[in-house]
Amino acid sequence: MLNVKKQDVMFTGIQPTGLLTLGNYCGTMCNWKIIQKKYQCFFCIADLHALTTRSYDHSIKYNFSANILDMVALYLACGVSPYDSIIFVQSHVYTHSQLYWILSNFVYFGELSRMTQFKKKISTYKKNINLSLFCYPVLMAADILLYQTNYVSVGSDQKQHVELVKKIARRFNSIYGDVFIIPDILITSRECKIMALQEPTKKMSKSDNNKNNTIFLLDNLDVIRLKLLQSLTDSDPLSRIKYNIYDKPGISNLLSILSFLTQQNISALEYEFKNYRYFDFKKQLSDIVCDTISKIQKLYFKFREDENYLIDILKFGAKKSLIYSKKNLFSVLQVLDL
Ligand code: TYM
Repeated sequence: MLNVKKQDVMFTGIQPTGLLTLGNYCGTMCNWKIIQKKYQCFFCIADLHALTTRSYDHSIKYNFSANILDMVALYLACGVSPYDSIIFVQSHVYTHSQLYWILSNFVYFGELSRMTQFKKKISTYKKNINLSLFCYPVLMAADILLYQTNYVSVGSDQKQHVELVKKIARRFNSIYGDVFIIPDILITSRECKIMALQEPTKKMSKSDNNKNNTIFLLDNLDVIRLKLLQSLTDSDPLSRIKYNIYDKPGISNLLSILSFLTQQNISALEYEFKNYRYFDFKKQLSDIVCDTISKIQKLYFKFREDENYLIDILKFGAKKSLIYSKKNLFSVLQVLDL
C-alpha cells in the first residue's frame, strides 16, 4: 500500500454524526480524487469531534461504528484510493488527544469565544454546552498540525477554524522555533457553502431536523428530485435565474450546487439558463445532481458489502497515521522538555 511518494501533505476530516450530504460533497469530497494525485492525503473520520454534540440520553442510538463504515465506503466511492492515501479514525490514533491538550495552552479563551460555529452551536445545543464544544477548534489544530500539513481541504464554513489553527501554529513556532508547518486552505476553485434547501440563509447540515433541507448522498434518487423541485426560491415574477445571495438566496444556492457539480462558473450558468423558468431549471439541476449521486451510490453499495475490507483499511490507516504523527508529537514534547 501507499505506492506514491509526494512531498506536500493534505489533511481533511468529516464528523461521523450522520449520513454525508451534498454540502460535504461540494465543500470538500468532490475534490478528493484529484488532490490525492498531487499530495500525500490523510482522510480522517473525526469521531472525537462528533462527541461534542452527542446527547447522553441512552434511548438514542448513535450507530457510530456503522456510520464510520458507511463513511469509508463513501470516501472510496468518491475516488479515494487506500493505496495512495491514508483513511483513518481519529480516536484510533492517540496522538491527537495528546497534542490537543498541549495546544490548549497556546490558545486563548477570547479567541475560542469568537468562533462563529461555537456561537451557533450554543444556541442549537442549549442543554449541552460542554467544554469540548468550546475547544473543538483546538482538536482540529491537533489533527492538522500533527501531520505537518501543508493544505487543508474544507468548505467555507470551516475557514475561521483553519485561520485559528494557523494562529496557534505561529504562536507555538514563535516561542519554540519552526516546529509546525503553517497550513493553508486548499483553494480548488472558489469558496463553497451549500445552504439548506428550505431555509437558504443557513448551512445545509447533516443534523438538520427538517430533512427537506438536506440532500443526503444515500437518499433515494426520487427523494432527491422531490427535495430539489420543492426547494424554496422567491416570488420574482420574472423568475430570473440570477446569483444574488441577498435577494435570491434560494436560486443562488441552486446555482452554486450546479456550478460545483458541472465545474462551470456562475455567470456561464446564468447565461445558459436565462430563458428558463424556476421549475425547468430545477428539473435540469435535479438530473445533474441525481446523475452525480447515482454514480457515487453504485460504488458505495459495492464497497459497503465487504466490511472486512473497510475495517482493514481503517486498521492500516491508524497504523500509518500513528507512525507519522508520533514523530511530530515527539518533536513537540522535546521542545517542551516533557
Ligand atoms: P463536518 O463534518 O461538519 O464537515 C465536513 C466537511 O464538509 C464541509 N461542509 C460543507 N461545505 C459546504 N457547504 C456545506 N453546507 C457544508 N457542510 C459541511 C465542511 O466545511 C468540512 O470540510 N470540523 C470538521 C471536521 C474536521 C476537520 C479536521 C476538517 C475535524 N478535524 C481537520 C479539516 C481538518 C467539520 O466541519 O466536519
